[in-house]
Amino acid sequence: MAKLGGILWLVTVVVAAFPRAQSLRVESWATRLEAKKETLTNLQFYFHDTLSGRNPSAIRVAQAADTNKSLTLFGAVMMADDPLTEGPDPNSKLLGRAQGLYASACQEDVGLLMAMSFSFTDGIYNGSSISILGKNQALDMVREMPIVGGTGLFRLARGYALAHTYWMDITTGDAIVGYNVTVVH
Ligand SMILES: *[C@@H]1O[C@H](CO)[C@@H](O)[C@H](O)[C@H]1NC(C)=O
Ligand SMILES: *[C@@H]1O[C@H](CO)[C@@H](O)[C@H](O)[C@H]1NC(C)=O
Ligand SMILES: *[C@@H]1O[C@H](CO)[C@@H](O)[C@H](O)[C@H]1NC(C)=O
Repeated sequence: MAKLGGILWLVTVVVAAFPRAQSLRVESWATRLEAKKETLTNLQFYFHDTLSGRNPSAIRVAQAADTNKSLTLFGAVMMADDPLTEGPDPNSKLLGRAQGLYASACQEDVGLLMAMSFSFTDGIYNGSSISILGKNQALDMVREMPIVGGTGLFRLARGYALAHTYWMDITTGDAIVGYNVTVVH
């Protein structure tokens, strides 16, 4: 009997809790609709990171005393202003620039902290940007990074980027990386 009492009590709690939970959900959904109709956007482009030559697009701006002894260059901080293009060919249409920092943040793996703004200059997105902040496990086939905000048409953006290396020169570190970005804004 005591056991049955326990079950009944549980059922009562569930029944009593349900209408309240549901009305809370309806309320927050309605608030969201009122505030803004959200859009889901997928962006695809290629990121060109050039460390070699006379005009590198990414330069080392800081390091630790032991950075060059580390296989992962732990502690190296790079400042980049990398072109973003429509195709993998560096001469394909320029869509914007990836500007900001990436730094070796892992001692035992090639893991980069990315803190960059992807500012677009083409078409309807001209003047709009998205901000990427997170770890880039650079040797993985595909890695995921968070999109934490944006400006212009991407105000209040949140989402994720999937990056895959299209081409890389292991002696110089020059790379072309395909980006697939999904954002809600
Ligand atoms: C490490 O190597 C880089 C690139 O070769 C060089 O620019 C830098 O000065 C070196 N850093 C140290 C602390 O020796
Ligand atoms: C992007 O906007 C800027 C500033 O409004 C303008 O000067 C530029 O021509 C535009 N670029 C493209 C490709 O439309
Ligand atoms: C985006 O993802 C699709 C599907 O996996 C793939 O076909 C495409 O090449 C990717 N684009 C870029 C720029 O990486």
